[in-house]
Amino acid sequence: MLFTGFFLQAQTRKVAVAKKSNEVYTLGKKISPDLFGLFFEDINYSADGGLYAELIQNRSFEYNPTEQREWNPFSFWEYITPGFSYGKISVETTTPVHPDNPHYVVLDIEHVGNETKHTGKSGVGLRNSGFEGIVIKAGDKYNFSVFARQLSKEPISISISLQNRKGQILAESSCTTSSKEWKNYSASLTPTVGNDSATLVVLATTEGKLALDVVSLFPEKTFKNRTNGMRADLAQVLADMKPRFMRFPGGCLVHGDGLGNMYRWKNTIGSVETRKEQRNIWGYHQTTGLGYFEYFQFCEDIGARPLPVLPAAVSCQNSGGTWSIGGTGQKALPIAEMKDYIQEVLDLIEWANGPVTSTWGAKRAAAGHPAPFGLQYVGIGNEDKITPEFEERFKMIFNAVKAEYPEITVVGTVGPSPDGEDFSKGWDIANEVKVPVIDEHYYTSPEWFISNQSRYDTYNRNAAQVYLGEYASWGNKLRNAIAEGVYMTALERNGDVVRMASYAPLLAKKNFTQWKTDLIFFDNVTICLTPNYYVQQLFSANQGDFYFDNVISKNEKDSSIAASCVMDSKSNDIILKMVNFGKESKIMKINLSGFKNIFPIAEKTVLTGNADAENTFDKPLSVVPVKSKIKVSRKFEYATPAMSLTVIRIKNNQN
Ligand code: AHR
Repeated sequence: MLFTGFFLQAQTRKVAVAKKSNEVYTLGKKISPDLFGLFFEDINYSADGGLYAELIQNRSFEYNPTEQREWNPFSFWEYITPGFSYGKISVETTTPVHPDNPHYVVLDIEHVGNETKHTGKSGVGLRNSGFEGIVIKAGDKYNFSVFARQLSKEPISISISLQNRKGQILAESSCTTSSKEWKNYSASLTPTVGNDSATLVVLATTEGKLALDVVSLFPEKTFKNRTNGMRADLAQVLADMKPRFMRFPGGCLVHGDGLGNMYRWKNTIGSVETRKEQRNIWGYHQTTGLGYFEYFQFCEDIGARPLPVLPAAVSCQNSGGTWSIGGTGQKALPIAEMKDYIQEVLDLIEWANGPVTSTWGAKRAAAGHPAPFGLQYVGIGNEDKITPEFEERFKMIFNAVKAEYPEITVVGTVGPSPDGEDFSKGWDIANEVKVPVIDEHYYTSPEWFISNQSRYDTYNRNAAQVYLGEYASWGNKLRNAIAEGVYMTALERNGDVVRMASYAPLLAKKNFTQWKTDLIFFDNVTICLTPNYYVQQLFSANQGDFYFDNVISKNEKDSSIAASCVMDSKSNDIILKMVNFGKESKIMKINLSGFKNIFPIAEKTVLTGNADAENTFDKPLSVVPVKSKIKVSRKFEYATPAMSLTVIRIKNNQN
């Protein structure tokens, strides 16, 4: 078997890495410190009903038939009159809590029953079962809030309870109206027993008339205990990836299904009752409760750079379902509207980074974050069809950002495929106007990833860098994950031209998916991490900023095996990744002679198993990484198991 140093020397810029002690590595290549991160799109109920911890579905009575034909403002609510009470209910729009939140419910409580034979609460009100049931935990606190307006003379008492499906009360609280204007009321509920399918019951227990809107229930324990925050367990598995960046809010969600459906960031900030809710391109409803402030704050909480992607002033080419006739549905904002639209893009940068004395920086500060968010990247467009309309608008936006904020790195777009017409035209534009980073997307077979490992070896180092913003290999079996792992070693090797990469889509709620292959599946209780998640997590949590092409040797002719060696200059740790897509164990040779003080005991993590193995809700732990210690020395051999990824993290004291 032929062993050679196996990576393309020709492309390797030899960089001396000066350490504190003046120790110098001569073969290290500086690579992107932001290589692996997250792609978050509100697809598959990733936001409402997913990462966003709100437990009430249709809290603002804004669901409507444009989302799903049978939906209306009262969807997911039930009108209830326990205790032989009676009254009326209507959905109204005349005096809303905010013009952008037009619908609310009016309860006309004609009679509150007082029959002695009735046990339990009487009143006229509403029940909400959340997103297929509300999960509550014994002893945990839940924060209820509602906007109410008393429409009759006397104050109205409101009973709030969490109930099980049999109507037994698990926690209870109350409040009383004190205003004829819209006012926010809150209460807290602490159940003594847990339940996975509880309901929230809001009952007016005084006769009179009452308007209600934005009926909300959050667990107190959100991720980092943020108000209006994230579901803690889901957020934690994202944080565990130690992502260097997070792209949001999509995906196709960004450019939207027609011009009126584009994601406009300004609609998503401010108090939640003032936000503009809208139809999700993926066929459901976005409250925008998880809006730009929450996205930025979440990025900060998990140590990821924010990468907001804004529409390039064109809608999705598949608008109205035109994907089925070849994607002819792109619509462009009229040129007369471009001045305002460009200002909207510039305002985002001021909102994120501007001083509190600036117009938009002041809004960020008012939301509770006076310090700048340190925005560095802005994406313009998402795999748009590269039409003349796109080109004109993209250039207008790009030039304006460059002129006003030269320190911002704009990420451009080159269509939905690894090649083809949009890809070429997109790259031509990038080369012409010198877009610094370009967002490539590809969903394809595991075999494609194996046979295209050299894709970036020949990319021009003097042109735009690449953000591989969406990729996946059509499946959640171990073989898919390992094929992606093979490819990721090539991304590290090319980390001087590939600046960022993120698997897509990220989250998928069981029974509510619009995309088959995803990274993390979940329901209201359980999280099922795919083998692909573990590969992403192992690469992402073990990133480096220097790449060494002379450390691991393998059979150069065997494309089913791949390896990479990086060093994280903060910890000095040396990280070896060895991937085997083959059916048998293969030997790799490691030579660490270039490093000064290698600790002899290193941490090894191996993900391996049957090629067709996958994790399911019934068996979520079929494929999981296994950690152990391994003895290492200046020169040693490692036998990579069949169908596996091995990460070896070696301490290295340079002082
Ligand atoms: O990741 C799912 C979808 O795939 C994204 O919304 C879109 O950008 C791509 O086509």
